[in-house]
Amino acid sequence: MTPEQFLEFARILPEPLLLVSSEGHLLTTNQAVADMLGLRRQELQGKMLFDLVTESSHEILKYLQACSSSRKMVLGCLTLRKNDQQTLICRSQGAVIQPWSTESSALILLRLEKRVIANNNFVLLNKKIDELAKEVQKRKQAEEALWKANQDLEIRVEKRTTALQETLNELQLTQSQLIQAEKMSSLGQMVAGVAHEINNPVNFIYANLHHAGKYAEDLVKLIQLYQHTYPSSSLEIQERIEVIDLDFLIQDLTKIFQSMRIGTERIQEVVKSLRNFSRLDEAAVKSVNIHEGIDSTLMILEHRLKAIHEYPITIIKKYGQLPNVTCYPCQLNQVFMNIIANAIDALEESAIIIKKQKLPTYNPQIQIHTKVLDDQWVTITITDNGVGINEQVKSKLFDPFFTTKAVGKGTGLGLSVSYQIIVEKHAGEISCSSTPEKCTEFVIKIPVNQVY
Ligand SMILES: Nc1ncnc2c1ncn2[C@@H]1O[C@H](COP(=O)(O)OP(=O)(O)OP(=O)(O)O)[C@@H](O)[C@H]1O
Ligand SMILES: [Mg+2]
Repeated sequence: MTPEQFLEFARILPEPLLLVSSEGHLLTTNQAVADMLGLRRQELQGKMLFDLVTESSHEILKYLQACSSSRKMVLGCLTLRKNDQQTLICRSQGAVIQPWSTESSALILLRLEKRVIANNNFVLLNKKIDELAKEVQKRKQAEEALWKANQDLEIRVEKRTTALQETLNELQLTQSQLIQAEKMSSLGQMVAGVAHEINNPVNFIYANLHHAGKYAEDLVKLIQLYQHTYPSSSLEIQERIEVIDLDFLIQDLTKIFQSMRIGTERIQEVVKSLRNFSRLDEAAVKSVNIHEGIDSTLMILEHRLKAIHEYPITIIKKYGQLPNVTCYPCQLNQVFMNIIANAIDALEESAIIIKKQKLPTYNPQIQIHTKVLDDQWVTITITDNGVGINEQVKSKLFDPFFTTKAVGKGTGLGLSVSYQIIVEKHAGEISCSSTPEKCTEFVIKIPVNQVY
């Protein structure tokens, strides 16, 4: 379609259309433009665009220039001067339909639209935008509510999980305490039973030893009297005296009685220690000598303290001047038992390594050091020079069921129960420090008097 044909066609269109040159000459218009201005179409012939509008010629030329140099529709605003002296504000859309050339200037088609209509369209558009914005807002709110509900749910699930985990931990702890208590109570009962069974016959032997010794002494004196009164006895008696080596017998008999007395006294001490260890009759708090508890524990463990893999264990006691401590003695002995048993295990492990590596010497040692901190606290430090504990193991040391020992050898309860006894039962403290492959030290700190 040529520009002329297009203009012919535009003339019959209902929309107000104007064809102008880039200098502002009105080349043609259609009836709708004439109607808008209140003029006849012939009256518009030969006019300039500036004659029809209130905008300055400079502004109009600038607008037409923009239209002719753009490939797109250029929006503008024109204020038409109507025949009745009124003005009419229009939105204009300008597009170049013939670009500028050396032979002719650019031709621009302007389409006018009353601003009221344009405004109406704007209102409609704004309304639509508003609705859309509201919809977007609604969706955002719904999304936020969903996100919040999700967050709440996650927090609730997390809280539940934590609560469940706590209950599980508590149950595991109770279970561990029950197992350990059962273990210790059976050991205690056995020890108490053995002590009781030994106690009676030993006391009986000890009491009779005194009389037996006295009788033997009397008999010896009687024989000596006979020898003195009848120096020349029969041949048979002489022979018998030689066979039994009477002089040696008399000498040795006193020694035998002496060693029997020492032996029974030792058994009595052992029985006392066993009873001290079990202390089954003392479930309540009692003011006791801590050293007696440690000694009786060492005695119970004596069979394990003998040489391990050819290396004899040395026990070094550095006991301070401790006052009696008010505590649950049976439970405190359990703690000593757990820690010293662990120390022996650690020394054993070291001994195996040292033997394998064929190292020349190893002096396994357990040191037990007690001291008064002030008039309210005492400490018991148990140190061994066994395998030691690395940081990873150290962080789990007091956890129930944590063990590095072989199945059947360790249950991993000893230290967790000891922690309970010291920290919760006695309001004390228990800590561990260790240099791997060198030494391990457990420090127990307990108050001299329990506050209830
Ligand atoms: N003196 C120590 N030297 C090196 N490691 C130690 C020492 N004491 C404790 N441990 C480490 O701590 C772990 C936990 O000790 P705990 O007494 O609680 O359990 P266990 O000895 O393994 O088993 P259980 O005492 O119930 O028979 C041990 O398995 C061991 O690895
Ligand atoms: Mg243990």
